[in-house]
Amino acid sequence: MQPMKTEISTDVQKAVELLSAGEIVAIPTETVYGLAANALDPDAVSKIFDAKERPHFNPLIIHLSDAGLLNKYVSEIPPKALDLIAKFWPGPLTLVLPKNKVIPDTVTAGKSTVAVRVPAHPVAQALLKRLDFPLAAPSANLFGQISPTLAEHVKKGLDGRICMILDGGKCDQGIESTIVAFDDDGTVVLLRPGSVTVQQLENCAGKIRFRTVNNIDPEAPGMLDRHYAPTTPAFLVEDPVQYFESLKSMKVGLLSFGPMDNLPANIEGLFLSAISDLQEASANLYEHLHLLDSLNCDILLLVKLPDFELGSSLNDRLKRAALSEIELKRHLLI
Ligand code: TXA
Ligand code: MG
Repeated sequence: MQPMKTEISTDVQKAVELLSAGEIVAIPTETVYGLAANALDPDAVSKIFDAKERPHFNPLIIHLSDAGLLNKYVSEIPPKALDLIAKFWPGPLTLVLPKNKVIPDTVTAGKSTVAVRVPAHPVAQALLKRLDFPLAAPSANLFGQISPTLAEHVKKGLDGRICMILDGGKCDQGIESTIVAFDDDGTVVLLRPGSVTVQQLENCAGKIRFRTVNNIDPEAPGMLDRHYAPTTPAFLVEDPVQYFESLKSMKVGLLSFGPMDNLPANIEGLFLSAISDLQEASANLYEHLHLLDSLNCDILLLVKLPDFELGSSLNDRLKRAALSEIELKRHLLI
């Protein structure tokens, strides 16, 4: 791949022209930045996989401007999908539905289903409304790395690999969409926790099932054990203070939910929300991980969040970004 100049711009019309010409463009959504291409053009879609170094077995989400377009791309919409659409679109919920044949196999990695969502971000909406095709878009990061919530994060990961990043500011949800599929009996199945919580899904569509996944044949490879990971070794802990003594000769980055007082001088602490608000924590999560990862720490401690509602989705991401507490003890020989 020839290196190219990567421009950060707010010019929606330029993004329209590039995408219409079969190029890839990073775009803002309310969850994370996506790396977009014309979903109906297999050559354009394959550029996404090349730029991200994403394995081809990992299918993409398609983005529509409006739920009214869904019938063009899927062959069946179960009743509970209609309930979820009415409640959560536009917004951070992705539905996996049987695809129809206009969706190329490159998008779905050969699966008979396609993942679809209608993003709420005003810039994504303005862009999609000017296009006569849907956009296939995974998160705009190198495969396995931390997802981007600012144009600068995209630039850091994909500089020289794409020509344009459409700047829409900070993504206000801050973690990827919730992904659901439907069982044969119409029950909603959670494939990836996200901004829309389990409680919100159940309030709308009744009891849901959880699909257990494995690393060899992940249903949604966002569910791979290790994903969204910083390059600094990171560990997920319940109570960080007990490790401070063993870590005193190291430079440590610490990420906590609320502020922590009296940190030792070797510990660089960031917190996700001054008022312990889960929504604010979600918006800041990846930005803070990017920041901590740039501080040249020896090790990062990520403190587990309260494990309910949005906190459970955030813990899911932290778990994939980090090694366990047992591994920390092994690392420190304690
Ligand atoms: O918030 C989001 O969902 C962001 C923005 C850009 O929309 N996109 C995103 O895409 O997170 P990506 O590619 O990083 O994650 C999409 C996930 C992957 O884990 C993929 O395996 C799963 O969706 N997926 C896509 N199509 C699927 C299908 N047909 N069946 C099951 N899982 C699917
Ligand atoms: Mg991703």
